[in-house]
Amino acid sequence: MTLVLARNTCYIDTTAQVSHLMELGSNLFIGPYANLYGGKIGDGTSVGAYTEIGGAEIGARCKIQAYVFLPKGVTIEDEVFIGPRAVFTNDKYPRASKHWTLVETRVKKGASIGAGAVICPGVVIGEGAMVGAGAVVTRDVAPGTLVFGNPAKEHEWPV
Ligand SMILES: CC(C)(COP(=O)(O)OP(=O)(O)OC[C@H]1O[C@@H](n2cnc3c(N)ncnc32)[C@H](O)[C@@H]1OP(=O)(O)O)[C@@H](O)C(=O)NCCC(=O)NCCS
Repeated sequence: MTLVLARNTCYIDTTAQVSHLMELGSNLFIGPYANLYGGKIGDGTSVGAYTEIGGAEIGARCKIQAYVFLPKGVTIEDEVFIGPRAVFTNDKYPRASKHWTLVETRVKKGASIGAGAVICPGVVIGEGAMVGAGAVVTRDVAPGTLVFGNPAKEHEWPV
């Protein structure tokens, strides 16, 4: 059996690592080999296989697919979709040998992040916006807009 019924009706795969530091809502689904070592997850959110959450704050009813990286400083509001292998970053100029500076990022309610997108530190992705697959987001994304490309630019919605 790979799924267990845990406290507050969450389904947490037996292979997932969930630190006691996590603040978990109810009715969660945590997939195989997910690694959750800090942060919050709101009610009804699903977290796909191999996803790592290291201090991010995640809202309710989000769908987070497999292999996503969500570090400290990232805030995901309610009802956000995050496609597989999307990566969030929190240090603009990373170096192995020096202290790092946390830069915060926010994805607002109802936005969607396409598969394989990279979200650079410090951006705000507006409510209901969509980031296309493989995009590199370096600038804020206005609410309700569609962006894609590297660096991501705004495009018309297909009709
Ligand atoms: C490359 C980097 C260092 C540039 O930082 P910067 O010099 O401060 O750049 P800015 O944010 O002022 O952007 C300057 C221009 O370069 C573009 N740009 C910045 N980073 C880019 C990237 N990674 N890919 C493509 N374009 C990029 C921006 O869109 C901007 O172009 P525009 O003015 O036409 O919009 C930074 O964006 C980056 O990618 N840091 C690495 C983050 C990371 O991977 N951290 C890992 C640890 S969490």
